[in-house]
Amino acid sequence: MRITAAVARERFGRFTIETLDLAEPRPDELLVRIVASGMCQTDQHGRDGYYDTPLPAVFGHEGAGIVEAVGSGVTKFAPGDHVVISYPWCGTCANCRRHMESHCQNNFDLKMRGTRADGSTLMRDAGGAPVYSAFFQQSSFATHAIANERFAVKVRRDAPLELLGPFACSGQTGAGAVLNSMQPQPGDALAVFGVGAVGLSGLMAARIAGCDPIIAIDIHARRLALARELGATHTIDHNGRADVVAEVRRITGAGVRFSLETSAQAPVFREAVEALMPAGTCVLLGSARAGTEVALDMPFLQFGRVVRGVIQGESHPPAFIPRLVDLLMQGQMPVERMMTFYPLADVNRAAQDSSDGTTIKPVLRMPG
Ligand SMILES: NC(=O)c1ccc[n+]([C@@H]2O[C@H](COP(=O)([O-])OP(=O)(O)OC[C@H]3O[C@@H](n4cnc5c(N)ncnc54)[C@H](O)[C@@H]3O)[C@@H](O)[C@H]2O)c1
Ligand SMILES: [Zn+2]
Ligand SMILES: [Zn+2]
Repeated sequence: MRITAAVARERFGRFTIETLDLAEPRPDELLVRIVASGMCQTDQHGRDGYYDTPLPAVFGHEGAGIVEAVGSGVTKFAPGDHVVISYPWCGTCANCRRHMESHCQNNFDLKMRGTRADGSTLMRDAGGAPVYSAFFQQSSFATHAIANERFAVKVRRDAPLELLGPFACSGQTGAGAVLNSMQPQPGDALAVFGVGAVGLSGLMAARIAGCDPIIAIDIHARRLALARELGATHTIDHNGRADVVAEVRRITGAGVRFSLETSAQAPVFREAVEALMPAGTCVLLGSARAGTEVALDMPFLQFGRVVRGVIQGESHPPAFIPRLVDLLMQGQMPVERMMTFYPLADVNRAAQDSSDGTTIKPVLRMPG
């Protein structure tokens, strides 16, 4: 079928809006009319060649929409269902068998190669040439996407679909890191280093879990102001400050039980570790480029401190995304406060506004 999509044809280049041909869904796939798709750093990193995704490609991995057709073997979805399309996993590797789907040993290829698991692409351009699609097994910067039924999550129909796409990545990454990985107790001190879409999602989850204090650290005053409205008890503007760790200790005494690193900056990651109390845990979410290294003090870590990376909030999407949607509907996860909406045609403006920090979470609305 004919669809409209944002196509990346060259590294660091502009997206072009093109008419493409989308394949029919296979027996285990859904055809989803995308209502809106969040834009995440990973889409731009993908376009810029960080993950060697071949071009031309359609990015987008925070898609939300309505099922339009289902493959012959699909039993759990029907046309009209509202869905969020989450990240893919293989289901058979050692980590998948332990239900650690977000740490699937095959997930890099499934996310980044721009093809289905069998190497096939789903889109062709006007000249008939293949376009790498199936980015995160969805490629949602388009009016329609094909999703494998295993990675689609049915959501309640009374929830505003255009707010739900970012739960597929940044939302469940931040919130899941807190609710699934850290599992704080009320009164635990928590610091969030970097309050973009991921950090703010973590911060809202920390408020739900009853963390206190909740300290937000960033370089954008506007983001810090929003962090305070969303539950931060303290904020620290990192601009020009060399004493962020001392400030965290001044607020907390011993340091924080939990720190969340989302800035992807090595010196900030180090501070997130140094801010920990004994037996505290730092969760690294920020995506640094391959080869980035950090030095840590061995005796400091020896006192029970834990440093670990987390992917996609260690979420099991079919259970966790509906839980986040419920929290949204209860007013506890007001994700719309961080969103700015753009028509698909303005995808380049959305990317620019996201890169320069003007917009926290760009969401692309697809033409009806
Ligand atoms: N682990 C995962 O599974 C996963 C999933 C999604 C995104 N990510 C990564 O998480 C990171 C955050 O994503 P995002 O969408 O929130 O991006 P973002 O760029 O909006 O957020 C990063 C924040 O860090 C702040 N920051 C930059 N330098 C800082 C400094 N010196 N001190 C304090 N704050 C500083 C920025 O101002 C920004 O607010 C990105 O690196 C992204 O690629 C990881
Ligand atoms: Zn796996
Ligand atoms: Zn993402």
